[in-house]
Amino acid sequence: MFRSSALLAALLLCAGSATAATPWQSLGEPLTAREISSWDIDVRPDGMGLPPGKGSVEQGQTLYDAQCASCHGVFGESNDYLALTGGIGTLASDTPQRTVASKLDYATTLWEYINRAMPFTHSKVLTVDEVYAVTAYVLNLAEILPMDATLDEKTLPAVVMPNREGFTQAHGFMTVDGKPDVQAKACMQDCTGEVTVSSELPAGFTEEMYGDIRTHFRALAGLTDLPATALAPATNAGTKSPAELAAANGCLTCHGVDTPIVGPAFTAIAERYAGNPEASALLTAKVRAGGSGVWGGAMMPAQASIPDSDLALVLAWLLAGAPAD
Ligand code: HEC
Ligand code: HEC
Repeated sequence: MFRSSALLAALLLCAGSATAATPWQSLGEPLTAREISSWDIDVRPDGMGLPPGKGSVEQGQTLYDAQCASCHGVFGESNDYLALTGGIGTLASDTPQRTVASKLDYATTLWEYINRAMPFTHSKVLTVDEVYAVTAYVLNLAEILPMDATLDEKTLPAVVMPNREGFTQAHGFMTVDGKPDVQAKACMQDCTGEVTVSSELPAGFTEEMYGDIRTHFRALAGLTDLPATALAPATNAGTKSPAELAAANGCLTCHGVDTPIVGPAFTAIAERYAGNPEASALLTAKVRAGGSGVWGGAMMPAQASIPDSDLALVLAWLLAGAPAD
């Protein structure tokens, strides 16, 4: 907890001297190239940080339909989740529609977001080429790129987004002291004596959307101080109940136990396959590959990241009628 910036500055100065065994002892030690590279993951508007690779609109379509359309809609128009297309030219109107197509100033941001965070329930499964392809397809759906376009580390930064010149600081993500949060200035001297770190998000907001984020798998290197469990994929067979495994692997974003969401209720699946000796093998294959048509038009994206052991436990529980304990 920082009490005052003067005190903090004093502590930092002490830490520079090699005598006392303070917790800051290692401050000032140069980082190794490996440590830097594991944190240096951003992609900039000029393309700096983009890995070499390429992908076409056409390749992106196949990926998008399988991995993205279930949530964002076949045309990016949204399927309960955020729309990715539309809204171009509406930002200054009374009814601004903010989508990645209408709001972003650089297409590199779109690439980076998809690369880091999508598909929502199992990010980091796409290869570099696949991220180029699916980015190209989203930009094609938004009518920013033609059907025959291919993106690579050179052509992506050259895409001119419709809102390239439109960024202002008139609004932000949140309002702090009556001002949009983008207007904050870093204080370098005579700053406030008390620094309080706080969050303006309503209590429970992130828990409701993402569960316990400490349990999420993020393929970041360099976090060597974290306990091994924090870096392991979401498998805890033995310590977690099947219901918890279903939640940790993202199944419950689309399936309710008793209620359908995007996909059918688990109890309805149990009913349908009751007495079918092939059910377990059939459903294992289906969940891995994804697909649609058995329950309706909605598509289940391929569930690539759930470990085999978790999937077996979740399906056994599901086929037993998904009992509460
Ligand atoms: C299970 C549902 C789901 C799937 C599948 C999914 N997304 Fe998303 N996507 C989301 C959610 C939820 C958000 C908002 C996340 C947030 O705000 O933290 C989002 C946000 C985004 C955004 C940012 C939108 C914005 O306006 O800032 C992009 C771009 C995106 N997704 C692209 C993709 C692509 C490409 C795929 C396929 C590779 C994909 N998504 C698959 C649910 C999904
Ligand atoms: C993005 C939404 C989404 C996610 C995430 C998702 N599902 Fe599905 N699931 C669906 C949809 C939609 C269907 C219906 C597919 C169909 O009609 O063929 C489905 C169908 C199923 C079925 C029945 C398949 C059949 O052919 O009868 C099972 C079993 C299933 N899901 C299990 C899972 C498990 C386990 C997970 C987590 C690893 C999971 N699902 C994650 C959307 C999803």
